[in-house]
Amino acid sequence: MQPSVTTLTGMTDTHTQVLSAYPPPAEFAEQANATEEMYREAEADRLAFWATQANRLAWSKPFTEVLDWSEAPFAKWFADGTLNVAYNCVDRHVEAGNGDRVAIHWEGEPVGHSRSITYAELKDEVSQAANTLTDLGLVSGDRVAIYMPMVPEAIVAMLACARLGVMHSVVFAGFSASALKARIDDAQAKMVITTDGQYRRGSAVSLKIGVDEAIEGLGDASPVEHVLVVRRTGIDIPFTEGRDLWWDETVPKASTEHTPEAFDAEHPLFLLYTSGTTGKPKGIMHTSGGYLTQASYTHSVVFDIKPETDVYWCTADIGWVTGHTYIVYGPLSNGVTQVVYEGTPASPNEHRHFEVIEKYGVTIYYTAPTLVRTFMKWGREIAFEHDLSSLRLLGSVGEPINPEAWRWYRLIFGADKTPIVDTWWQTETGAAMISPLPGVTHCKPGSAMRPLPGISAKIVDDEGNDLAPGTDHGEQASGYLVLDKPWPAMLRGIWGDPERFKETYWSRFADQGWYFAGDGARYGKDGEIWILGRIDDVMNVSGHRISTAEVESALVGHSGVAEAAVVGAADEQTGQAICAFVILKSHHAETPHEQMVDELRAEVSREISPIAKPREIHVVPELPKTRSGKIMRRLLRDVAEGRELGDTSTLVDPSVFEAIRAGK
Ligand code: WT7
Repeated sequence: MQPSVTTLTGMTDTHTQVLSAYPPPAEFAEQANATEEMYREAEADRLAFWATQANRLAWSKPFTEVLDWSEAPFAKWFADGTLNVAYNCVDRHVEAGNGDRVAIHWEGEPVGHSRSITYAELKDEVSQAANTLTDLGLVSGDRVAIYMPMVPEAIVAMLACARLGVMHSVVFAGFSASALKARIDDAQAKMVITTDGQYRRGSAVSLKIGVDEAIEGLGDASPVEHVLVVRRTGIDIPFTEGRDLWWDETVPKASTEHTPEAFDAEHPLFLLYTSGTTGKPKGIMHTSGGYLTQASYTHSVVFDIKPETDVYWCTADIGWVTGHTYIVYGPLSNGVTQVVYEGTPASPNEHRHFEVIEKYGVTIYYTAPTLVRTFMKWGREIAFEHDLSSLRLLGSVGEPINPEAWRWYRLIFGADKTPIVDTWWQTETGAAMISPLPGVTHCKPGSAMRPLPGISAKIVDDEGNDLAPGTDHGEQASGYLVLDKPWPAMLRGIWGDPERFKETYWSRFADQGWYFAGDGARYGKDGEIWILGRIDDVMNVSGHRISTAEVESALVGHSGVAEAAVVGAADEQTGQAICAFVILKSHHAETPHEQMVDELRAEVSREISPIAKPREIHVVPELPKTRSGKIMRRLLRDVAEGRELGDTSTLVDPSVFEAIRAGK
């Protein structure tokens, strides 16, 4: 059973305000890539519309069939066409005479570390890396884990895999060795590409040691034959003869000639692990033609990309889907110039992002609401010291952006005139699904507005009935956000687990054949969509997706913990924050709580990542459970957010709350 939409109570406050819309500036509308007509065109013939978008790409063999949905929910898009994804992202721009255009302005975390790479140079490097991977025995269909900070080689490595039909599985470099190990194991990755270390707020820390630990942890069962190591920091690291290779001693020696092979549109492109409602991350599977079609099309229309003049900057990390789609495949397929920044926004100080915008003349800036709120906290004076006049479009992704942050973003970054595109999508959707079209949409701050041309979504109640549009006054009911028609970039499954794929996404509305996104939403009075957040056991912390079960399993991994329950509670800065409730084993009853809490936070950090560290851990004598033994997270959320308790009638022992509150 999925949780009921009533769990949304209390999350809607900032979203229910009636707000005036921001029309698109006339100058922007005049030159925009997107037009109102696109909605009509897609509505009239959805598949023909997608065929047109697919034909923005270069196909080795043209497709004749757009969609095969006969084995739903396993879709095939453009199935009889063939293409090479890396050729589309690199070579064809060089062939079109744009080899001298900068593809990547790379800005390292330490000030002064920077490098600009043209499309022609990128083509040479990707070819060399592809030749190296081939020499090391990788063939189409193999899996490679990429565990790297934001360095150009990470993008080169992804494209080299794509060029060979090898699937990459990028693992966020902030994840622990133990998380990496699980992902290498699940995908049976034959190679890991990593760096010696990474810069974190000014100091160099090892990354390679984590790779060694992950591989050692797998013992004889390790599938890894080679570890390719980019020298980034120069720190000392252990090296295993025969298995480990330095990138700078192998890749540059390989030939820059490499003929891309054409693969079927449905050839797998990558795996990206994301948190689900169980402790085991899911390997989300994406394929080539459909994914690239939607990545490229949405990037072009949502970000209004003008490849000759724009300097685009997406601040995400390649460890997340935003980095895959809107740093690697979208921008490069469109041949635009982009900024790739390695570090954190406060390195060496809070001016860094503004300096980077000024330095490169960034025109399009795409970031997460949590960062906008951080900038707000730092104060507008910082922004006022910089010339941000190059910016013409702003984007937001990862969680609902609160109207106040939206307005601040537009005022301070956008001189109160740039459009903002609030893009709703997921690892599973592969590319943007619900978003304004700049130059067309009258935006309401905080709403992702409506599905993009070609995309169909709706908000329904428990039985699948359409919700009515909202009104100016009164409470509008919230419901489930569903995608009722297949889309080209949709996930093709969960690696090694087709049953879980069906169960997770397609069982809630199985009769109707809809994809349930896991989000709650409501309509505004003009039929626009307001996303309210996850209604399953998935948390969204600073736009990072973390499951309650994963954190719980890390906590109970500690010898002192008997039971743990984790909930996401509203947090001004991070959207949601992780709150844990733990019952200690009796032999730990005497250990001071503060010491236990410190140990437990360290344990979660070690097991998953520092980003999963709970904001608060409450040691409690008992957890609220139903008669069937299910922990009532809804009530724990009430406690964590300091609300009156909701309905406690199904609890075995309602008095546990007195004990929990006393311990809080
Ligand atoms: C979940 C997906 C899409 C890339 C980053 C996150 C939330 C994402 C928005 C938005 C409201 C949003 C949803 C979604 N989300 N974008 N614009 N407005 N909520 O990818 O880790 O797969 O997480 O992020 O809850 O289900 P992800």
